[in-house]
Amino acid sequence: MRIGCIINLMNSMKKIGEGLYYDVYELSSTRVLKVEKPYWRKQLTYLKWGMLRYFFRNLIHPGIFKSSLEDSKRLPVIGGELFGNTIFHDHFTCEQDKVQTIEAYFRTHSDEEKKVIIEKYIQLTYMLWERGFSDVVFNYLRNNGVTEDGRVILCDFNEVTFSKEETIRAVQRKPWLKPWMLRLLFGSFERHVKKRLHAAFTIAHIEKYWNTHGN
Ligand SMILES: Nc1ncnc2c1ncn2[C@@H]1O[C@H](COP(=O)(O)OP(=O)(O)O)[C@@H](O)[C@H]1O
Ligand SMILES: [Mg+2]
Repeated sequence: MRIGCIINLMNSMKKIGEGLYYDVYELSSTRVLKVEKPYWRKQLTYLKWGMLRYFFRNLIHPGIFKSSLEDSKRLPVIGGELFGNTIFHDHFTCEQDKVQTIEAYFRTHSDEEKKVIIEKYIQLTYMLWERGFSDVVFNYLRNNGVTEDGRVILCDFNEVTFSKEETIRAVQRKPWLKPWMLRLLFGSFERHVKKRLHAAFTIAHIEKYWNTHGN
């Protein structure tokens, strides 16, 4: 897809999300278009989030943004459905299955339905480990989502590592226990998520699943 064509599409589409790297537009009832934000808007996002260390780091080394997106471009080829059948067009613009983020899904579903999603999220993480890579931020509420047909996918795969050692270090940090994430879970469900993720994301499980796909 050419840049001019993307700009025309953006003007007629509804924006449904934004992160550090991307503006996300609804392309159809089942697909989205993700358009890379220009450098200065990414930097403004860091300022808005109060992440001054990253703002100054990227001021000195503007290429960091590009290299982290470069790494993630290889992933859909390996992961396919796990990444929502992402297809890259010009540069880093891509198309992807439309989801409801897990955060949005949790706001409107029962505890029983939410439990099923947590189990699907755990299984997705194991499938990534089986293919020899892992998400390191475990920001499952905002970077993972549920498709119309009930699959859980990793829609933001910009923070993925191919290193088992880095995955072990990430799991040891237990990023899913960050207070802002727990606040979004509310009470009794928070206990359930903590218990399940604590049991599921262990070094023993990384050892069990790492790079075993196709063996
Ligand atoms: N496939 C998708 N379907 C629906 N909304 C999405 C999709 N991908 C991302 N979004 C929304 O856009 C936001 C930013 O997208 P994300 O992929 O996380 O980009 P970034 O790398 O900029 O963080 C997400 O938090 C989510 O709200
Ligand atoms: Mg994101």
